[in-house]
Amino acid sequence: MVLKDKRILLGVCGGIAVYKSTMLARAMIKAGALVQVVMTDAATKFVGPLTFEALTERACLTDENLFHTGGGVSHVEVARNADLIVIAPATATTIARLAGGFADNMLSASVLASKAPILLVPAMHTAMWESVPVQRNLTLLNPQQYRILPPAAGDLASGDVGPGRFPEVEDIFDAVCAVASPQDLAGWRIAVTAGPTREPMDPVRFISNPSTGKMGIEIARAAQIRGAVVDLVLGPTHLNPPSELATGSMNVRKVLTTKDMLDSTKAALAGADALIMAAAPSDDRPAQVHEHKLHKADLPKTLQMEANPDILKTLRPDFDKKVIVGFAAETTSVVESGQQKLVDKGLDLLFANPVDNGQGFGAAANQGYLLSKDGALVVVESQSKFDVANLILDQVLKIGKRK
Ligand code: CTP
Repeated sequence: MVLKDKRILLGVCGGIAVYKSTMLARAMIKAGALVQVVMTDAATKFVGPLTFEALTERACLTDENLFHTGGGVSHVEVARNADLIVIAPATATTIARLAGGFADNMLSASVLASKAPILLVPAMHTAMWESVPVQRNLTLLNPQQYRILPPAAGDLASGDVGPGRFPEVEDIFDAVCAVASPQDLAGWRIAVTAGPTREPMDPVRFISNPSTGKMGIEIARAAQIRGAVVDLVLGPTHLNPPSELATGSMNVRKVLTTKDMLDSTKAALAGADALIMAAAPSDDRPAQVHEHKLHKADLPKTLQMEANPDILKTLRPDFDKKVIVGFAAETTSVVESGQQKLVDKGLDLLFANPVDNGQGFGAAANQGYLLSKDGALVVVESQSKFDVANLILDQVLKIGKRK
């Protein structure tokens, strides 16, 4: 939502990662942005401007435009029409041009003529990235205008391994959102829990539930985009936690059992302003955990269980001044059960959602009811979990300001 109608100048420089910036252009267009691509001469050797033109449905600008004599688009006009600039991939040469103020191609001329915020996404060989001139040039860029998303570490096109890789397109997309988004959670530290827990009965068997952690991960993602420092306590899931962006911060603590989750959540909450408890911790655990695998013949026919601690109930009394949010995934009496849990667990806010309608666990969208301590009830229509996350964060911000 944050990129809707945003005018984005996507600067593309010459490197093997150019083919991935076509996907970035597409992701930004899908999010409602108006994307103007400007390619350097070197970039056009990797991917033709036509590819970007087809994706963005507008002319892709190259050096031809800068040196056009018949009243073509000027770099000043391009600069004026950009709400934000993303340079991805940014090569050593373009970084040097910008650091030195050289306006000798369409991209650097347009960028130097703009006061818009810039997200720089360098990608190059490790030795180039770590070289003295590149690192020095980065320090010359105005930190008020430039955010630098550091390259990822891993396999490089050259066959070497190290920092220099173009980050995942989803991570660049989130960093663009962060640059475009109001930083209304800057200065906030938010603890979020996500995913199921696993309660082992022996080394190869456990009790768990179908939670994937998607809702909590989207909350963590949205909070970081809005400038918060996030502590994500994550149960076992196949989903990746959000990466750390050029703004905000993401600390991930992986846990297995409900007891582990309690310990990590307590530690995270101690330094936080709010806790959003989106995880689905197991309420019970097998009373006996066997050290070695039980063979079929030895498996008990009934499983003796004992209660796990209720994390919210345990932590609430010690953290009275903080904003505490719970979830309730229900199949019957959604609002009534939600209201009961809100009171029982002493929460400020609770999102109650039905999980027998194809939404809920693992789904991309969510719907339900946002219940507040003061009795307010907001019906949340079906929408992406990211959008639901932002609605919850809006409320957390409001409640936090009142506390
Ligand atoms: N929760 C918790 N500790 C637990 C179990 C749940 O803190 N051991 C939290 C969940 O993260 C959620 C809220 O409590 O935010 C409600 O969870 P839910 O499973 O719906 O409720 P329960 O208290 O477990 O009650 P029931 O299983 O009877 O519905």
